Amino acid sequence: RNVRIIGAPMDLGADRRGVDMGPSAIRYAGLAEELEAMGTTCLDWGDVHVPRPEETDPDAGAPVAGDAKFLAETETVCTRLSHEVADAVDAGDLPLVLGGDHSIAIGTASGVARDESTGVIWFDAHGDFNTPTTTPSGNVHGMSLAAILGIGEFAETDWAPSPNVSEENVALVGLRDIDEQERPAIRDSEVSAYTMTDIDDRGVTEIVEEAIGVATDGTDGVHVSLDLDWLDPTEAPGVGTPVRGGVSYREAHAAMELIAKHLSQPDRLRGFELVEVNPILDQHNQTAELAVELVASAFGKIIL
Ligand code: ARG
Ligand code: MN
Ligand code: MN
Ligand code: MN
Repeated sequence: RNVRIIGAPMDLGADRRGVDMGPSAIRYAGLAEELEAMGTTCLDWGDVHVPRPEETDPDAGAPVAGDAKFLAETETVCTRLSHEVADAVDAGDLPLVLGGDHSIAIGTASGVARDESTGVIWFDAHGDFNTPTTTPSGNVHGMSLAAILGIGEFAETDWAPSPNVSEENVALVGLRDIDEQERPAIRDSEVSAYTMTDIDDRGVTEIVEEAIGVATDGTDGVHVSLDLDWLDPTEAPGVGTPVRGGVSYREAHAAMELIAKHLSQPDRLRGFELVEVNPILDQHNQTAELAVELVASAFGKIIL
């Protein structure tokens, strides 16, 4: 199966500029070369268009109640991205989306899950379970999973919820920074949420195998959304919202190797995305290089 790279240089969903350069940084780190070296044919479809913040009006009448900065522009970008991703799936390719902030996940999930029931594994320090009325920041990257699941104000929009993604098939892995109002929202939902404490107690292998079980249970395929702030900031300093106490370099690879082991035979991986890489905050492109390595592990690279 061919891998189709799609860049989404989005920064409207996060407070800091720089994450819009994520797709360039990841390409510069040698993504296509690494995948080709593994024997994978890799097609780069370039970037979807994202308006510059200066071209937009942040106060142009919020489309929903509450606070969600650039939500109208987010809808436009995510709708474009959803089309590109769905086209890749239709062609039998595996879409590999490069962010951009995590708000793009709304578009990726919508495209991956357009025609098939899809489980989601969300590797992240954060829950991204806020809504426009619970958000402490107004940043849509902290709401994207709630949007995909149609929670709160997102239920009223026709573009955000992915009808073929159900809560019972969503697993969050690596949580360690949850806002006050996200906590009850995650608890009251049917998603499976695994914190760093769970990883401490049971080890990354057991937790990730359980998460894969959640995402594959009764679904046609699985989408993996990897926020680089899932890793400890010592390994991944180039992210906008770093949180101490994340997974180690080796734990991250172990998790990705389990994705390859359990989802490649038969082919159940339907989409993969790398988000929140911010080269401006990085050290010598270390975070983008790590992102490339992790994709290689998820797509089947083994040590020996
Ligand atoms: N919980 C915070 C918020 O909602 C931070 C979210 C960070 N999300 C991310 N995708 N990095 O603003
Ligand atoms: Mn189309
Ligand atoms: Mn996130
Ligand atoms: Mn995060």
